[in-house]
Amino acid sequence: MLQEPVNFAVIGCGALARGMHIPNIAKSPKTVLHTCCDLSDEALKECRDVHGALNISKDWRATVMNPEVQAICLATTEKLRFPVIELAVEYDKPIYVEKPLATTLEEAYKIQRTVNASKIPFCVGHNRRNSPAMIEAHRIFRGQMDKPQICDWRWDREGATRPKRKDDGVATFCCRINDDWYSWKNWVFDKTQAPHGPMLFEMTHFTDICNWFLASEPKEVVAIETGMLNHAIIVKYTGGEIATLSLCGNGTFGYPKELYEAMGNASMVVCDHMCEVRTAGIKNVPSRITFPFLKDRHPNIGTQGGIAGWLEKKAVACHESLDANDPMLQFAAEPDKGHAHAINRFVDEIKGCGGVVCGVDDAVMATRVAFAAIKSAKEGRIVRMEEV
Ligand SMILES: NC(=O)c1ccc[n+]([C@@H]2O[C@H](COP(=O)([O-])OP(=O)(O)OC[C@H]3O[C@@H](n4cnc5c(N)ncnc54)[C@H](O)[C@@H]3O)[C@@H](O)[C@H]2O)c1
Repeated sequence: MLQEPVNFAVIGCGALARGMHIPNIAKSPKTVLHTCCDLSDEALKECRDVHGALNISKDWRATVMNPEVQAICLATTEKLRFPVIELAVEYDKPIYVEKPLATTLEEAYKIQRTVNASKIPFCVGHNRRNSPAMIEAHRIFRGQMDKPQICDWRWDREGATRPKRKDDGVATFCCRINDDWYSWKNWVFDKTQAPHGPMLFEMTHFTDICNWFLASEPKEVVAIETGMLNHAIIVKYTGGEIATLSLCGNGTFGYPKELYEAMGNASMVVCDHMCEVRTAGIKNVPSRITFPFLKDRHPNIGTQGGIAGWLEKKAVACHESLDANDPMLQFAAEPDKGHAHAINRFVDEIKGCGGVVCGVDDAVMATRVAFAAIKSAKEGRIVRMEEV
């Protein structure tokens, strides 16, 4: 059994890794930033000089095989997945893999077989499952679905003569993503790196969240897309639950990116941009809970927190961005999307004192739903899950 702190190697030290995993691993008492591996000298220099990586390397094979490396964080683009995972399995090293798990279903299934035949702890970077706000919203909603605490003020107009409905209480889940595609980097449009575009690499985050909240098995999927930027998807589950996903790449960073709304058993649980949870219809649960921001440059503005606080901070930051002619200044306070918690909870899983964070089977299911949506949009019909 591994002891803390665990020596991590990060393979692929690009934008996401240097923005999240590398500083998080360097900062956490549970982990050591043992090795950073990338092809770029510039990235490696930053890893060593700014983030304090103990070692740097351009060779991912040697990095995985290094006996001092105890766990891997794979954050290359999805072009490189299976060979690294296969070697990690061979050397018995736990591995955290960025989403999407694979660029094809064949590769996803190959990874699933390989990981399930091994004993290595395995985690996919569907980080939102680790966001404090999402965890709280999920806990409250699943509580209401499993043991409903329905408010006494519910209007039961027909009482005993109310007809029985098979979908009485059954959950639905809506997920709205507001994005601005002008911010996307070039590899997103490169078919060799991201053959299915955001319909796969963004979508698996959200299909995973739908599956997690609804706790049911996806049955069929229907999707429409307008090319690359806008997508609308509906997923039906075996228990009758329905998830609706709306992703728009023609939105704006001036407004919160993500809104999740879960309904069922006469209740509503909303997670707004992972900084505020609102509830209604559930006995003894607060109607509004706010969560701390990360990298808050304006702690004295929007002190009420939550969405209202975020909007005030954002308005000031957008002015600053304009004044300084620096687009990066528009990012004022970020919601905690769970990246750091994901690595820390994965360490607990590795040590055997925490549950599975986001294992291969759940990740493959989220990936299959995304592929069913891709197929549905292409063929203009409902796709059953057994087709993918
Ligand atoms: N979970 C999240 O919130 C989130 C957010 C953004 C991106 N991602 C995912 O993270 C992954 C990386 O995205 P990014 O935006 O950081 O991309 P990026 O292009 O900025 O970084 C990828 C890095 O991998 C390196 N690389 C490529 N081949 C390599 C090899 N053979 N050996 C070592 N390094 C190699 C590149 O040099 C580059 O530095 C993608 O799969 C993306 O979908 C996840």
